[in-house]
Amino acid sequence: LAGSVRAVASAVEAGPAVKTLSEASLQAQVEGFFARALADVAGEAKVMVAPADPRFGDYQCNNAMGLFKQSKKEGGKEGWKSPRDVGEAIKDALPAEASELFEEVNVAPQGFITVKLSPQWLHKQVAELFDHGLQLRSSMSQRIVIDYSSPNIAKEMHVGHLRSTILGDTMANLFEDLGHEVVRLNHVGDWGTQFGMLLEYMRREEALDGEASSMVVSDLQKFYRSAKEAFDEDDEFRKKAQTNVVELQSGADWARAAWNRICEASRKEFDTVYGRLQIRGLQERGESFYNKMLPGVVEELQEKGLVTESDGALCVFTKVSETPLIVQKADGGFGYDSTDCAAVQHRINEENANRVIYVIDNGQELHMRMVFSAAEQAGWLSGGARLDFMGFGLVQGQDGKKFKTRSGEVVRLRDLLDEAADRSEVELRKRAENANIVLDEDKERKLKQNAESIGVAAVKYFDLRQNRNSDYRFSYDSMLDPKGNTAVYVLYAYARIAGVLRRADFEIGTLSTTDLELTEAPERALALRLLRLPEVIAQVEDDLFPSRLVDHMYGLATDFSSFYTECPVVGSEQQKSRLRPLRLLLRELRLRDLALRDSSVQLLVN
Ligand code: ARG
Repeated sequence: LAGSVRAVASAVEAGPAVKTLSEASLQAQVEGFFARALADVAGEAKVMVAPADPRFGDYQCNNAMGLFKQSKKEGGKEGWKSPRDVGEAIKDALPAEASELFEEVNVAPQGFITVKLSPQWLHKQVAELFDHGLQLRSSMSQRIVIDYSSPNIAKEMHVGHLRSTILGDTMANLFEDLGHEVVRLNHVGDWGTQFGMLLEYMRREEALDGEASSMVVSDLQKFYRSAKEAFDEDDEFRKKAQTNVVELQSGADWARAAWNRICEASRKEFDTVYGRLQIRGLQERGESFYNKMLPGVVEELQEKGLVTESDGALCVFTKVSETPLIVQKADGGFGYDSTDCAAVQHRINEENANRVIYVIDNGQELHMRMVFSAAEQAGWLSGGARLDFMGFGLVQGQDGKKFKTRSGEVVRLRDLLDEAADRSEVELRKRAENANIVLDEDKERKLKQNAESIGVAAVKYFDLRQNRNSDYRFSYDSMLDPKGNTAVYVLYAYARIAGVLRRADFEIGTLSTTDLELTEAPERALALRLLRLPEVIAQVEDDLFPSRLVDHMYGLATDFSSFYTECPVVGSEQQKSRLRPLRLLLRELRLRDLALRDSSVQLLVN
């Protein structure tokens, strides 16, 4: 998705115009006019401008109703007998320059003011976009730490980690493209008391010796389960496990070596998944990284008077919950809470982050909010750092219950990606057969490659498209539906545009934008959609809902589809000039996160 920002930029060889999101945002411009009108009519008021239902206009200002109600409470204002009167007053107060932008300004009976952008103005904007391109920058470049993916050692990565990985990586790419400095951190669960029992069990099974390469995560998972059973049932085992923890934490050679090998085996598994998802630049900085900082952080919290002792444990009570953070357990050990306190402090003070984003399932929201609150109480936010919890819902099975395999196991990420790729492959073979394409060795190889690309793209897109706070049902059929809101549909649109441009037998760059007319409704809709990208990105930058960007992209694809069926692009110069937006569109749809390879689409087109 992030690629779209750069994509528009590369539309022009000479180097694009660089604008900040707020400079480029259409919505911000419209808001600017209404802000001035509102200052006139009501003193300062928070402007409420949103895109409108296209039947009524392009944007709408929603302030009138609220202002009317408020004036009534305060005894009424002259001339304001209904919300409509307020709307009219705002309309009248719009500055004269607004008429250059707005062709129409209408006030509805409930006071909503809708505006329609003038064709001349739209034309000017679109022509500028095509002639000069546009590179978007954030209004303020920041250093942003994103904590995402974060699976656990000795356990399989599951669909929750898939969501975190996809959401986090998309945001990281987007931020980078906007000119932020991004630090991608993988907060791997590689520490804690569970290693004591795992080491003990594996030692008894003589599974600690031998080549690291022979250790696989599925075995580790089994060991882990048996170790947990032994730990719960056998006193002797439990004592040994506890001693192992102490030995590991104090750095005993044998324990360190065994722990390293276990981590190494898990890492290999994670890397395979990251490779397939095309995740790059994610730095592993697991829980163990913060180990040596823990005593210091607890001490600092104590000095600041934030620590209370309760049943021997050291607790920090925060403003968000009655349950405290446990920063040191009664037995002197440190846990998940302590580590996250140390991590947040390190990210702000050592990493110098202006913003830290945690991409974790909603089940951990309270834990994180407590950590944020503790950070505030400890004064770590005094430099203005912003902490965001970017939560997400569950992935469910088709039946709406927990997502499991038929035998009741957690679904492994690998298997899930395999299945998506396999299904795409079946579909591609069908298409090739229908089109009588003979698959020689080269085409056979490409087909497999494309099936993998489409499978991964489908999984990513389906996840990104959801409101991240909602739970969703994992369905291969829905995510691979060529007619739905899916990666397949968008790839298909891309392929069609590429085909149109391939067939066009002249240099599109030579077309003059003055010939471009936005008279037809689908043409206008497509142009407006292209101009709206900056406002969508600005919103995602702030509220971290990448589904907005997917909606935008899907809108582009559907707008293109109506445009292409209704507006001829061959014939007169004017008709040909309609091809110019296509080139830009193509670049916007060619999105890095969808793992699109140039060859990927060939088979879909034919
Ligand atoms: N390893 C944890 C899990 O799998 C997620 C860690 C998220 N990040 C953090 N800083 N707590 O649930």
